[in-house]
Amino acid sequence: MDITVKKINALKGSIEIPADKSLTHRAFMFSSLTKGKCKISNYSKGADCLSTLEIIKQLGCTVNYINEKELIIDASKALTEPSMPLNCGNSGTTTRLMAGILAGQPFDCKLFGDESLSKRPMKRVIAPLELMGAKFIHNDFKLPIEIQGSQLHGIDYNSQLASAQVKSCILLAGLNAEGTTTYTEPYKSRNHTELMLEYMGANITTEGNKVSVQKSQLKPVDFKICGDISSAAFFIVAALIVPDSDIIIKNVGINKTRRGIIDILQKMNGDITLLNKRTIANEEIADIRVKYSNLKATTIQGSIIPALIDEIPVLTVAATQADGTTIIKDATDLRNKEADRITSVATELKKLGANIEEQPDGFIIQGKTELSGNCEIECYHDHRIAMSSFVAGLICKKPIKINQFQWVNISFPEFLNLMNNIISY
Ligand code: S3P
Repeated sequence: MDITVKKINALKGSIEIPADKSLTHRAFMFSSLTKGKCKISNYSKGADCLSTLEIIKQLGCTVNYINEKELIIDASKALTEPSMPLNCGNSGTTTRLMAGILAGQPFDCKLFGDESLSKRPMKRVIAPLELMGAKFIHNDFKLPIEIQGSQLHGIDYNSQLASAQVKSCILLAGLNAEGTTTYTEPYKSRNHTELMLEYMGANITTEGNKVSVQKSQLKPVDFKICGDISSAAFFIVAALIVPDSDIIIKNVGINKTRRGIIDILQKMNGDITLLNKRTIANEEIADIRVKYSNLKATTIQGSIIPALIDEIPVLTVAATQADGTTIIKDATDLRNKEADRITSVATELKKLGANIEEQPDGFIIQGKTELSGNCEIECYHDHRIAMSSFVAGLICKKPIKINQFQWVNISFPEFLNLMNNIISY
C-alpha cells in the first residue's frame, strides 16, 4: 500500500493510543507459564504481538476471545512440544524472549522468521543461554534456529549491551534454571519484565542495573495494558512540529525506563504536560497534552538511549525543526533493528531536504530546516520508518509518497485512522 501525505493545518483533539507492544508480548508469554488462566484487556493487535500469540497457541495454550479488547489465555497444562516450526514473523522480541522460555523446556523446537528478522543478530541471546547449559543448532547465530530443550543452571552475566530483549531472555530462562541467575547491564533498559514478573509472584530482586531471579512458578493474574508510548511518540512529535496543534493522548505508559522521548522533548522546549498520573500493575500511566512548540537542539547520548531507542527515528524528524545542532550518539544498535535505522533514516530525511549527517553511532542534524518533500520515501520493511516519514510529510511544502506503508501494521494498524481523526487540513 503506497500512500500520499501532504501538509496539514493542525492536529487538534483527543485520542487513545492502542496497547503497548512490549507489555502485550510479555503478558502473552508470561501467561503461558502460569499453569492457570489469565485475562488480558487491551492487548496490541500489531502483527508482532500476534506472532507471539500464535506461538503460545502452538505450545498448547488455548485462547478465548471475550470481545474486541479482551481475551483469556488458558495455560492450565504445561507447555508441550509444537508439531511445526514456530514463526516469529518480523518480531525480534518474540524470538529473543521465546528463546529464553524454550531453552529450558523438556522438548525441542525450531524458530524462524521473515527476511528482515533472519538477518538480525541472535548471538546476544544464544551466547549467554549456552553458558546456562542451553543447546542450539544455527548458522552464524541467525534464524532459523533449532533449540534442544535442556536442564539450565543460573549464571552471573555481565552484558555489554543495554538490551531489554537480552535481559528478559536470560531472566525468563532463569525462572526455570537451578540456582540464581543474575544479569547486569551497562545502562538500565526497559524494566517491564522485572515489574511484571514481580507482580506475578516470581522470586526476583533488582539493585540498580543488576537483576537476580530464582526458579519460580508464576501465578495467574489479569492484565490491563496501557497505551504504547512508542506509538504515542509519532503523535507527540507531530503535534510539536505542526503549528497551532494541541492534542491530548490518553492512557499512555510513562514508565521511567521508556519515557526518554518525553524527557528529551521537554528539554528541547517541547510543551508537553503529563496529566492524571496513576499506577496500574506496577506501571506508571498518564494522559499527555502536547502543543506546538519552538524546539531547540540538544545532545542525546549515554544512559538515556535505551529509554528512547525505538523513538530515535521520529526524534530525528523533531530535530530537523529544532534551532541549532542536535547530536544523537551511543546508538549503534539502531543498525540492528528491523532495518539499519541510521543509514535508512539519514537517506530518507535527506530526500525531504533535511540537513542530517550519518555517524557510526547516530546522527548530526542541523535545524531548523524547511522540508521540501516532493519525493518518494521507502520504508525498508520497517514500521517505525514508515510512521516517522508520515510525520515528516505533515510539514513538507509539497506532498510525499510513502511506498509500502503497510509495514505500519507490525506495531500500529490503527495509525492512519487515529491520525485522520485529529488532522485538520
Ligand atoms: C524491546 C526492547 C528493545 C526495543 C524493541 C522492544 C522489548 O530492543 O527496541 O522494540 O520489548 O524488550 P533491544 O532490547 O534489542 O534494545
